[in-house]
Amino acid sequence: MCGIIGYTGHRPAVPFIIEGLRRLEYRGYDSSGVCYAQSGRLNVVRAEGKLALLEDKLANMEVSLATTGMGHTRWATHGAPTENNAHPHRSSRGELCLVHNGIIENYQEHKNALIGKGYCFSSDTDTEVLVNLIADERAAGMPLLQAFANALKKAQGAFALALMSPEEPDVVYAARHSAPLLLGIGQGENFVASDIPAFLPYTRDVVFLEDGEIVRITPGTWQVFSIESLEPLDKRTHHIEWDLQAAQKGGFKHFMLKEIFEQPRVIADCMAGRVDMARREVSIPELADANIPSRLRIVACGTSFHAGLWAAPLFETWAGIPTTVEIASEFRYRSPLLEAGEAVLVISQSGETADTLAALRIAREKDCPVIGVCNVVGSSIAREADAVVFTQAGPEISVASTKALSSQMTALLLMALYWGHRRGVLPAGVMQEALHGLSSLPGHMENSLPALREQAKGLARRYSACKGMFFLGRGQSFPLALEGALKVKELSYIHAEGYAAGEMKHGPIALIEPDFLSFFLAPHDALFAKSKSNLEEVQARSGPVIVLTNPHTEGKELRAAETWTLPEAWGPLNGFLMLCALQLFSYETATCLGKDVDQPRNLAKSVTVE
Ligand code: AGP
Repeated sequence: MCGIIGYTGHRPAVPFIIEGLRRLEYRGYDSSGVCYAQSGRLNVVRAEGKLALLEDKLANMEVSLATTGMGHTRWATHGAPTENNAHPHRSSRGELCLVHNGIIENYQEHKNALIGKGYCFSSDTDTEVLVNLIADERAAGMPLLQAFANALKKAQGAFALALMSPEEPDVVYAARHSAPLLLGIGQGENFVASDIPAFLPYTRDVVFLEDGEIVRITPGTWQVFSIESLEPLDKRTHHIEWDLQAAQKGGFKHFMLKEIFEQPRVIADCMAGRVDMARREVSIPELADANIPSRLRIVACGTSFHAGLWAAPLFETWAGIPTTVEIASEFRYRSPLLEAGEAVLVISQSGETADTLAALRIAREKDCPVIGVCNVVGSSIAREADAVVFTQAGPEISVASTKALSSQMTALLLMALYWGHRRGVLPAGVMQEALHGLSSLPGHMENSLPALREQAKGLARRYSACKGMFFLGRGQSFPLALEGALKVKELSYIHAEGYAAGEMKHGPIALIEPDFLSFFLAPHDALFAKSKSNLEEVQARSGPVIVLTNPHTEGKELRAAETWTLPEAWGPLNGFLMLCALQLFSYETATCLGKDVDQPRNLAKSVTVE
C-alpha cells in the first residue's frame, strides 16, 4: 500500500515525480505529496485527495529548478487521510524528509522516547516517528547513511522508504524491509520506486532491492549497502522487456476494461513455451527439478485465493494430489501441520501480499517446499519461493484483479495436467481434450468479449439498483461465484455474497425479496439440475434471477429466469468465459452507478500490510 518514488538527475524532478506517482496511484490514492531540493532547501507540498489536487497546488509554484526529489501516494494506515498525515514527513527540526510505504509496528514506544527528548509531532503517523528517529541518530553525530541504518535497526515492521537531507541536496537514500522497492538506473539520472512503471519511460535497467538493503543514489552513481553492516553489496541489473504501452490504457476508458479485454492474449502467453500442441504435451520447466508433492496446500488472498479454490479439484482429479486451499491471513496464525512430501503453493499476482509472503516464510521455516504462482518478476514471493511458475500476464494496474485470475487459472490448470501426466494418473483423454480446448480458448474468448460487454451493460442497467446480490454456483462454479461477488462489492459498493448454491436453503434464502438479485452460475455440467432447483427456490420467493449458462440448457427449463447464454467450452474451460461475464457485469454495474472503477474507495492494489 502506498507508492513511493525518488529521483535525482538532470531533468526537472517535480513533473517527473508527478508523472511517476500517477503510475503508482493504483497503490493508494487518498493523499499525496512531494519533496524537492531547491536553493539548498527541502520544500514539501502535500494535498488530501487524488493526485490532481496536489498538481493544482504545484501549478502556482516555481519548481522547475529542482532536479532531485521524491514523492508519495498514500493508502492510510496510521491516521486519517488528511493533508497533515500525508507524506513526505519532516523531522521536527525540519532537516530531514521521509516517504514511507508500510507500517512501523513499534512506533509508539519510539514516539514516547522522542517526546521525552524534546521532539514534537504534528501528525498521527508512524512515519513522522521514524524520520525523527533518523534525525536523532544524526544529531548524535552519525553520518547520514549510518544514522538511517541505525534508526532502521530499531524499527519493527514493514517499510520501503526514501529519505532526503539538505546536507546532500542531490542525493536520495532508500531502504526496504518487507515492502517492494526497486532501483532504476539511467544515464546521468537514477530512480527508486515501489514499482517499475513509475520510471519505465526513462529506463528499463532495474535492480531489485532485497530486505535489509539501503541504496544511495546521486545523478551519476548508485551503491547498495547492507543495513546491518553498511558493507557495499554487489547487485545484478535486470533488463525489463515489457514497455510502457503495457502499463497504459491503450484507448480503453479504464485499466480494468483494458485488462478484461487482454485476457485472450494473457491465456495464450501463459501457455507459450509450456504447451506443445503437436506432441500433445505440457512441460513446466520451472518445476522440472522439483519433486511432485504428495499433498498440496494452496495459500493465497482475495482473487488469488479464488484461483486456488478453482484449481484444487483439478489437482485432485487429474494429478491425484490431495489439495486443500487456505486464506493466507488464517494460515499464518494457526500453526499449520505440514506433512513430509507436502508442498505449499502460494498464489499472488503482485508477489508482495504481506499475508501470503508470511505464509511462504512459515512453510519454509518448517522445511516445506514452496512453489509460487506469481505475476511480478523480481517480487518478494518470486524470489523467496523454491520454484516459481510465472503467469506472464503483464502489469495489472486496475485495483480489481481480472486478467491475473485468468492467467493463474491457466497456469494452475497446466500444472495439474503436467503433474498428472508425470505421475501417470491423468485420466484418459483429458490431455487431448484440455489442450484442444485451450488452444481455441483465446480466439473463442476474443470473439465473445464484445457481445458479452453489451449483454453485461443491459443487465447492469436493469439490476444495478438492487440492494443486494447473491452469486451462486456449485462445483468449479462456486469459486467463480465468490469472485463475482468480490468484484461487485469492491467496485459498486453493493453488498454481494458468493455462496455454494446448495447452501442457500441453510439460511441465506431468508434475504430473498424483489430487490435482491440472485446471480446463478449454472453451466451445462453434471450439477446443472441441482443448480436449477436452487434457482427455482429463489424464484418461488419472488427473487429476481440472472442465470449464466450454456446453449444446451436454454429454453423451457429456465423459462422464468433472465438467461445469459455463453458459448460452451470443454469442462473446466467454461469457467474462463463465465469469469469474463462476471467481470464485465461488475464493471458495467459500477459504471452505471458512477463509481470510480480503477480506484475504488478504501482499497489499494498491493496489500503489503496485515
Ligand atoms: C481483487 O480484485 C483484489 N485485487 C484482491 O483481492 C487481490 O486479489 C488480493 O489482494 C491478493 O493480491 P495478490 O494476488 O497480489 O497477492
